[in-house]
Amino acid sequence: MSKEKDDLIARSKQYWNPGKTSEWQRMGVDLVIDRREAYYLWDVDGRRLIDVHLNGGTYSLGHRNPEVVEAVREGMAYFDIGNHHFPSIMRTHVAEMLERLTPAGLKRTIFASGGAEAIDIALKSARNATKRRKIICIERCYHGHTGLAVQVGGSRQGAVQRS
Ligand SMILES: Cc1ncc(COP(=O)(O)O)c(C=O)c1O
Repeated sequence: MSKEKDDLIARSKQYWNPGKTSEWQRMGVDLVIDRREAYYLWDVDGRRLIDVHLNGGTYSLGHRNPEVVEAVREGMAYFDIGNHHFPSIMRTHVAEMLERLTPAGLKRTIFASGGAEAIDIALKSARNATKRRKIICIERCYHGHTGLAVQVGGSRQGAVQRS
């Protein structure tokens, strides 16, 4: 392992997530992802890998897809994140598109910043619609780190369980 990778792993344990970083090391996965392009990843030691990760953090359109990069660049040249208290040109446009593309009856969109927040919104919407509170989930599942999502997940989120 290079000194650069060694140092990054040590800093990852110190400043980010000691448990998760150490678990990968224990399993012999010493990956620190650097460059990404299409379906390839390079770790900081220069190893090229094919990204076949099927979970959170998947890139079904490939890493840094040029069309996506261009759309983000174009958008950021004009818009920023906006002010969510007011009606928005782009949010309205995307919500309108989704209404057209989804099955009849799905009329409105709530935007979320990620998977866990979307799970929370779905659970809260279901509770509101059904007036029921109980949530059934499978054991040792993972739905993210926000309020309800973390409550319905297994107790050691994101960690590999050992028996
Ligand atoms: C199955 C599953 N659900 C929910 C999430 C949470 O998504 P996010 O990290 O975007 O909040 C993840 C993230 O890895 C996931 O794998």
